[in-house]
Amino acid sequence: MNSQPLVHRLNRRLLLSRSAAVVGASSMGLLLPQIVRAQSNKVRVGFMLPYTGAYAQLGVAIENAVRMAIAEKGGKLGGREIEWFKVDDESEPSKGVENAQKLVQRDKVDVLIGTVHSGVQMGIQRVARESGVLSIIPNAGLHAATRGLCAPNVFRTSFTNAQPTSALGKPMMDRGLKRAVWITHKYAAGDEAFEGFRDSYTKAGGTIVKELGLPFPGVEFQALLTEIASLKPDAVACFFAGSAASKFMRDYAAAGLQGKIPLWGSGFLTEGVLQATGAAAEGVMSTLHYADSLDTPRNQQFRSAFAQQFKMQPDVYAVQGYDAGQLLIRSLDAVKGDMSNKAAMYKAMETAVIDSPRGRWTMSKAHNPVQDMYLRVVEKGDNKVVGVAQKAVADSAAGCKMG
Ligand code: PHB
Repeated sequence: MNSQPLVHRLNRRLLLSRSAAVVGASSMGLLLPQIVRAQSNKVRVGFMLPYTGAYAQLGVAIENAVRMAIAEKGGKLGGREIEWFKVDDESEPSKGVENAQKLVQRDKVDVLIGTVHSGVQMGIQRVARESGVLSIIPNAGLHAATRGLCAPNVFRTSFTNAQPTSALGKPMMDRGLKRAVWITHKYAAGDEAFEGFRDSYTKAGGTIVKELGLPFPGVEFQALLTEIASLKPDAVACFFAGSAASKFMRDYAAAGLQGKIPLWGSGFLTEGVLQATGAAAEGVMSTLHYADSLDTPRNQQFRSAFAQQFKMQPDVYAVQGYDAGQLLIRSLDAVKGDMSNKAAMYKAMETAVIDSPRGRWTMSKAHNPVQDMYLRVVEKGDNKVVGVAQKAVADSAAGCKMG
């Protein structure tokens, strides 16, 4: 995919035709200041998201929902028009810094919204800390972003990787599942999700009999499933997301494990993939800060508006994108569009109570959501809420010092 799609080509064309107009007009000494002012008065918002690869559909859901939140409030930020930019990060960590710089240095965005993959987030975090550009994380759970490498200009509307799994241990043990195998994609997100699972499960008295993994974005699960079958644990707990999650559940069922060894997960396992997974997802249990079936007017209104606009069902990624839009609105409204007033902008974000489809949440001192975790089960192709697994879950924020 062209990493600077339509928006960029159009911008370039617009710029060229504008500069032609400007040359003509400025020679008459008239138009230049107005054009320059009009152009620079727009808020420049950059998306750095995966639009190709295993997490492509996650990126699309996030972008759609950010745009929807802002459109619902009149399509402006602090009274200013918006100019959009986007870069496809391909969930490729080695290009993380370079891609973030494209938005910050080349496109000169005022705010960078991204990304999904924790490895890529590390690149954004570096660029955000060096440049001071406002950065909103609409998914990636990378611990460092709101722990050791936290920053005044970086806010997250999603989760830390250990947050959802920190709610897994108790409900598993409540059901007598005392010996579990852990399996994950081996990269920051999976390893950090393991931290939450290990701590909560062992604290509740469970034993982890084996940790299994494969490199992201590999989907060769066969040998690992054979090993799980021979280990005969009481349950399997895992972290997978996007198309790989769907493939994992289908392979799990095809290997004859569905219904025999209960499958549990960080709830991303069943987000955005239920249709593609079909019957293989039925019965899967998970913990997450959202569930389709949350029976609140806020969630229902969000779900029907999103489905109507984008002809796709919203999922947790859409919710996090929607809340990134809500947070941005709040910050620019607080300063009436004057982004030079950073202290007031950040204060507005720090004190925000976000009225989210997931339920209300607040921002921790480290700029990460404090939020409820739901226990869910897949039933008839839907993530059904079983109950609240843990209330007001806050990340440890270990090592965060706002400089
Ligand atoms: C991550 O890499 O942080 C990540 C990706 C996809 C998810 C959750 C976390 O669903």
